[in-house]
Amino acid sequence: MKVGIIGTGFVGSSAAYAIVLRGVASELVLVDARPELARAQAEDILHAVPFGSPVRVMAGDYADLAGARVVVLACGVNQQPGETRLQLLERNAAVFQDVMGRLRPHAPGAILVVASNPVDLMTQIVLRLSGLPPDRVVGSGTILDTARFRTLLGEHLGIAPQSVHAYVLGEHGDSEVLVWSSARAGGVPLETFARQTGRALTPEVKARVDDGVRRAAYRIIEGKRASYYGIGAGLARIVKAIRDDERVVLTLSGFDGNLSGFAPVCFSLPRVLGADGIRTTLVPPLDRSEKSALRRSAEILYEAARSLSL
Ligand code: 2OP
Repeated sequence: MKVGIIGTGFVGSSAAYAIVLRGVASELVLVDARPELARAQAEDILHAVPFGSPVRVMAGDYADLAGARVVVLACGVNQQPGETRLQLLERNAAVFQDVMGRLRPHAPGAILVVASNPVDLMTQIVLRLSGLPPDRVVGSGTILDTARFRTLLGEHLGIAPQSVHAYVLGEHGDSEVLVWSSARAGGVPLETFARQTGRALTPEVKARVDDGVRRAAYRIIEGKRASYYGIGAGLARIVKAIRDDERVVLTLSGFDGNLSGFAPVCFSLPRVLGADGIRTTLVPPLDRSEKSALRRSAEILYEAARSLSL
C-alpha cells in the first residue's frame, strides 16, 4: 500500500518511522514545503528499513502522491510552550488552504488522515476543502489521549494497557472528556477491578490520572519542544487499520451528520475504522456529567470553527 505524508517535521517523520518499523506500507512518499527536509528525513528513515520491513521510502512532490491509499497530513506549525492547541488555529488553517489546493488534483482517491493541531478543526477544514465524504477524512483526534489514559490506568492497576478499555472523547485539547463511568479492565468494570485488586481509584488517583492525560502535551512541549513518538505510533496504527480493513474501534475525530445532541463539528468518538475509512460512529454510555462535558467540548469546537467560518 502506498502512503503519503505531508509535513515531515517531528510528527510526520515519527509517523514515517513507525510505519517503516511496523511494516504498514510498501511505499512511503514524504512531502514537505522544505524539500531538503523531506529528502533528509527520507534518507535517514530509509536506513531503518533493513531493521524493519521492506518499504520503499522516497521524498517527493504532490504529484508523487498519485495512487496513495492514505495521505497523512502532519504539516503546519506546532504549539509553543504554554500555547493551547486552539491558539494555533489561524496559523495552521492558512497552511491547510495551500496544501489542500495542491493535494486535491493528485490523490483524489486517498483517505486523508489529519494529525496537525488543533486536530479537530483541521479535520473540519480538510473535510470542507477536500469535498470528500466524512468517512474518508479521519482526524487522529484523541487516539493519543486514549492511549495516555489506558497507559496510566494500566500502571495504577498493574495490568497491560491493552487490557484497559477506556476512552477519552471530545476535543483533542483542554476540554477533552475522560470517560470513567464505562471504563473496564479485562471486561470487569474499572471500580470493581480496582477494589478487587486493592488498588482503589481514590479521588486523588483519579485527579492524578486526569492531569497525566490532559496536561501531558504541555509537559512534553515544555521539556522538549514537541511531542511526537506517541502520535507517530498512533498514526501508524490508523494506517494499519485502513490497510488491513481491521474494523478496529479507535477514538478518532470525524464528522457524523446523523449524530443528535451535539454541535455539528468534528470531534472524537469511538469509531470503527476499516479499508474505506470510518464505518460506524459509536456513542458509549456516559453519566450525566460526562455527557454534559462532551456536549460542552463539542460546543467549544463549534464556536472556534464559527470564528473561522468553517
Ligand atoms: C499531544 O497531545 C501536542 O497534540 C499533541 O501530544
